[in-house]
Amino acid sequence: MSAASSKPPQLSNWPLSWSVCSLQGSLLTLAVLVLISFVHLSLSSLRFPLQNSGGTRVKLISVIDDVSVSTAHLEGGGEDLPDVFHLPEIFRLNYEAMEKNFKVYIYPDGDPNTFYQTPRKLTGKYASEGYFFQNIRESKFRTEDPQEADLFFIPISCHKMRGKGTSYENMTIIVQNYVESLIAKYPYWNRTLGVDHFFVTCHDVGVRATEGVPFLVKNAIRAVCSPSYNVGFIPHKDIALPQVLQPFALPAGGNDVENRTGLGFWAGHRNSKIRVILARVWENDTELYILNNRINRAIGNLEYQKRFYRSKFCICPGGSQVNSARIADSIHYGCIPVILSDYYDLPFNDILDWKKFAVVLKETDVYQLKQILKDISDDQFLQLHYNLVKVQKHFQWNTPPIKYDAFHMVMYELWLRHRVVKY
Ligand SMILES: *[C@@H]1O[C@H](CO)[C@@H](O)[C@H](O)[C@H]1NC(C)=O
Ligand SMILES: *[C@@H]1O[C@H](CO)[C@@H](O)[C@H](O)[C@H]1NC(C)=O
Ligand SMILES: *[C@@H]1O[C@H](CO)[C@@H](O)[C@H](O)[C@H]1NC(C)=O
Ligand SMILES: *[C@@H]1O[C@H](CO)[C@@H](O)[C@H](O)[C@H]1NC(C)=O
Repeated sequence: MSAASSKPPQLSNWPLSWSVCSLQGSLLTLAVLVLISFVHLSLSSLRFPLQNSGGTRVKLISVIDDVSVSTAHLEGGGEDLPDVFHLPEIFRLNYEAMEKNFKVYIYPDGDPNTFYQTPRKLTGKYASEGYFFQNIRESKFRTEDPQEADLFFIPISCHKMRGKGTSYENMTIIVQNYVESLIAKYPYWNRTLGVDHFFVTCHDVGVRATEGVPFLVKNAIRAVCSPSYNVGFIPHKDIALPQVLQPFALPAGGNDVENRTGLGFWAGHRNSKIRVILARVWENDTELYILNNRINRAIGNLEYQKRFYRSKFCICPGGSQVNSARIADSIHYGCIPVILSDYYDLPFNDILDWKKFAVVLKETDVYQLKQILKDISDDQFLQLHYNLVKVQKHFQWNTPPIKYDAFHMVMYELWLRHRVVKY
């Protein structure tokens, strides 16, 4: 925290000193106003402690928890967050509060050599699952003391089950037995029927594998790479995990708009209706480079990745599952993602304003795709590209994790959701 020239506000008189701080700009004032009205609402409309059916005390957490942190920041200034955030100031304050306070307990049960505790690998399409498992162990969010935990992590890896060739039926049984063993052994699940528990699954099989425990899907927080209504994704409870194919074959794009001479690019499997239409309508177009076939990512000269460098817009139509690593690829290589899906809960879309760095379209727009992209002015494109480079770090995993990276963004989503019920 930089030393402030004027008198720092004290916690005891913060509403007073807050008015002085309105000089710091109307945006900040607005953010604080939102915060205060929210606190006021929480206080006036909620009577707590509430009694739940079991007679135990359930405390409703309001933003008031973070006010002590926010007062410290009103003076200090600190780093600027770009306006790709819906509420940059709220994000910054809340993020600091998370760094300071958030604690997660990882259930220690399960043999790491089978499906538990450790990731399968940190590469490939489902690397996000592995990174999360590894990162949370390396992070300071982990606590060995369940009493101080805000959330409980169920460390079962569906990707690993998949790797071991387990059948769908068996996966469901394995998940069910594991979760039921935790429920029988520890008191934490029964207190809230799983509301303060979460699990993480990038591979699509995780969706089916967890069907055997209804409360796991109904109550616990699910961080999943394939958010769509047909997998029972519940947007206010669940988290869209970015699917990132790491390591990237080539470095991140940026400051390279002069090389982006291609209007649009897509190559991939035609494994969904929208992809079939996309390929059929635009296959021979001279401005949109739409291939009927997948380009192997691994071929020697990395033709696939280099196309991302040379294109302005990269088309991301939903596949057999809505998500694909193509969105994170586009972001990494600096190509504006064009989301072509009627329903897709984009990763971090409650935090980041996707319209500032992506083009979000409906599937029926596929027929006007070229005109829509051509109607985007050079200035608008430059702005989108400028913002895109700024969000790259949020869609990248690291080990150990670093501030604002994909892991921390997922943790932040969990942090937002842990408030619902605090035991
Ligand atoms: C499923 O589980 C049964 C019983 O444990 C086992 O005999 C069978 O080999 C498993 N099948 C697969 C494909 O995992
Ligand atoms: C939690 O509740 C279930 C269902 O009532 C019960 O079988 C289990 O033993 C309980 N767990 C603990 C630790 O008491
Ligand atoms: C543009 O492309 C050329 C040829 O591939 C390359 O040498 C150059 O570094 C690129 N410029 C930028 C800014 O990436
Ligand atoms: C694209 O070209 C191929 C080969 O000439 C042709 O068969 C196909 O009908 C064309 N597609 C469209 C949409 O024009």
